[in-house]
Amino acid sequence: MKKLEIIIRPDKLETLKEILDECGCGGMTIMAVMGCGQQKGSVNQIKNMKVNINLLPKIQVNAVIKDEQVENTLLEINTKISSGTVGDGKVFVYDVDDAMRIRTGERGGKAI
Ligand SMILES: Nc1ncnc2c1ncn2[C@@H]1O[C@H](COP(=O)(O)OP(=O)(O)OP(=O)(O)O)[C@@H](O)[C@H]1O
Ligand SMILES: [Mg+2]
Repeated sequence: MKKLEIIIRPDKLETLKEILDECGCGGMTIMAVMGCGQQKGSVNQIKNMKVNINLLPKIQVNAVIKDEQVENTLLEINTKISSGTVGDGKVFVYDVDDAMRIRTGERGGKAI
């Protein structure tokens, strides 16, 4: 199992939900976050104070999926979410050791 931590522009959330559904994802957790990427050097001078204005609202979606679903999901995200402009977002991929469905006690792949 892998956890995808997907950070996107808020207006791409509906597209991402469709992608995850089509890729067989069993669930997701969604958060409103603020963040910046490699353009964080963008700085404005206000009354001699340096103010970083490059923290932008983003949506973070966490989804735990099966190993064999990862490549297709990443490809779909790249194809359908990329606008080709800076700030499109990023996906971080983590190993997941175990999971449990609380209602039944099912573990591992059966729990997601
Ligand atoms: N290294 C990182 N660590 C944690 N979060 C990150 C990292 N890079 C990007 N993010 C998150 O992803 C969001 C979108 O990043 P963004 O798409 O601007 O990345 P980028 O590396 O600057 O790529 P681009 O040059 O295409 O803009 C950021 O607002 C931040 O929330
Ligand atoms: Mg950026």
